[in-house]
Amino acid sequence: MTGKFQAPKGVSEYFPPRSSHFDFVLRTLTAPALAAGYELIELPIFEDTELFTRGVGESTDVVSKEMYTFEDRGGRSITLRPEGTAGVMRAVIEHNLDRGQLPVKLFYRGPFFRAERPQAGRYRQFYQFGIEAIGLNDPQLDAEVIAIAFEGYRRIGLKNFSLHLTSLGDSESRASHRSRLMEYIDSLDLDEETRNRAKKNPLRLFDDKRPEIQKLMAQAPLLLDFLNDESKNNFGEVQDALSSIDIPFEINPRMVRGLDYYTGTTFEFVHSGLGAQSGIGGGGRYDGLMSTLGGQDLSGIGFGLGIDRILLAMEAEKIELPIANYTDLFVIALGEPARKRAFVMIQELRNQGFVVEQSYGDRGLKGAMKAADKSGARFSIVLGDAELSTGSVELKEMATGQALSVTLSALAKTLAEKSR
Ligand code: HAM
Repeated sequence: MTGKFQAPKGVSEYFPPRSSHFDFVLRTLTAPALAAGYELIELPIFEDTELFTRGVGESTDVVSKEMYTFEDRGGRSITLRPEGTAGVMRAVIEHNLDRGQLPVKLFYRGPFFRAERPQAGRYRQFYQFGIEAIGLNDPQLDAEVIAIAFEGYRRIGLKNFSLHLTSLGDSESRASHRSRLMEYIDSLDLDEETRNRAKKNPLRLFDDKRPEIQKLMAQAPLLLDFLNDESKNNFGEVQDALSSIDIPFEINPRMVRGLDYYTGTTFEFVHSGLGAQSGIGGGGRYDGLMSTLGGQDLSGIGFGLGIDRILLAMEAEKIELPIANYTDLFVIALGEPARKRAFVMIQELRNQGFVVEQSYGDRGLKGAMKAADKSGARFSIVLGDAELSTGSVELKEMATGQALSVTLSALAKTLAEKSR
């Protein structure tokens, strides 16, 4: 039935049974981050607009076309967060988290908002799991961040993905490349708008989807060929560290990330089963972001992984999950005295850690048995007047139909033994 209201266009929503996969993905991605000492940071969904225009950069589609920006009741310009890194940096600076031991290691998860044209795998509200390691520039930290994402995907069971890697070098390398790239771009016959984009960030043209621009850019000088010795060594060490822990990667010198703050190591995870929206995660180092936002001049590195796309990738790979809503016992109580007794017993069993469901209301035995079947519970019991007076029930194993007579007082113990 179509009700009066529908969800806004292009938002992702999760309800049973798929919501258990969503939950599984988040929990699974979090575990390797916790193992590496990252701690939760929970931030507002909306921030001052300027945080993103400054932090993410005006040459990006994210800032120039896709932000949900509005004026609040106090006349302030507010934007629904399109990504997580700028907000994390704002909070680190504001709360002096960078004044203690470095690096500061944080993880976050939640909804993000970009007013994109909706299609499969591209939403206006989407979910990310992200981490940021702030305050140190060490190739091992770059490799650690990548390894955390890789291990998360592996634990989820994903196989058909690859890691694309490049380096945007330090500021000296970028400056020497930029002047050569601008010379090259100036020699091209481009429309005014494209030329203006190139002035803000010439790397953006590598990401232009128009075939004629792609053709022109095929001959353009690549940043990777302009790395100075220090940047080259640094990138070499990141690659060696990844190889030492058997993480395969492809160098992709044409990769352009959609946000302007990147420097040094940058990466994307690409899944082969998703069509056009194949990026299941990406990230990189950002040298200047913190000082741009008014903080210390510290480097950082992190990633954002797209939960929605990871779910689609799992489905594309037909990954089966362990039963999410496991139920130990289904209780059918018949008659008022039994219902009262069952209510108390059920709470006690649940408090001891068993997953217990029951039939509600006065459905009669037949309807209640159907509900017990549907629940997927491992065992069921029927509690009526007779069972109340004898103090014992038949514990029925649903899969086999086998029943065992158990006293009510020994029920928890028997369930515990059976589930071992
Ligand atoms: P991003 O590449 O813009 O990076 O987004 C990260 C991931 O979010 C993408 O790889 C994709 O899986 C998912 N994603 C992005 N937009 C959408 C969308 N419209 N619908 C569905 N999924 C989407 C960042 O956001 C950076 N903050 C990552 C980072 C953290 N870099 C350093 N630290």
